[in-house]
Amino acid sequence: MTEIELQVNGQAVSRTVEPRLLLVDLLRRELGLTGTHVGCDTSQCGACTVLLDGAAVKSCTVLAVQASGGAVTTVEGLACGDVLHPVQQAFIQCHGLQCGFCTPGMIMAVAYFLRERPAALDDASIQTALEGNICRCTGYVNIIAAVRHAALAIYPELAATANGARA
Ligand code: FES
Ligand code: FES
Repeated sequence: MTEIELQVNGQAVSRTVEPRLLLVDLLRRELGLTGTHVGCDTSQCGACTVLLDGAAVKSCTVLAVQASGGAVTTVEGLACGDVLHPVQQAFIQCHGLQCGFCTPGMIMAVAYFLRERPAALDDASIQTALEGNICRCTGYVNIIAAVRHAALAIYPELAATANGARA
């Protein structure tokens, strides 16, 4: 067993865990943060995406002990109090989901993509940003619209690069 200490959504967490415990299982089973989903367990679907020290990671590929000393943000920690993150707002506004299973991971991946101003908002750039996240039911059209919507909310000066943007 190994002692770990980390921040999760701004809260200090300390646990004694098995070295093989995955970060996603720490979040879901130990901490009850079930917004982080498990879709494949083989590093393909991205449903388990969280931020670790600001970088998007697939938490099914990270050991809890590897996250020790770090700061994790899950979808539960993305909003600022009652105010949703612009990416969360955009997914609602553009209906960027159907069953919602992939949505937490999508949102975290997009939040990471938009942490800095992207060079462009054309469809290809957005598709590249989402290549690690799989959605089995929306067809991606509204997800791409949501990414563009969130990006323009955060970086309105990008409107000129947003070919395909909806009026
Ligand atoms: S559950 Fe982690 S990538 Fe699918
Ligand atoms: S909304 Fe169903 S898997 Fe993406």
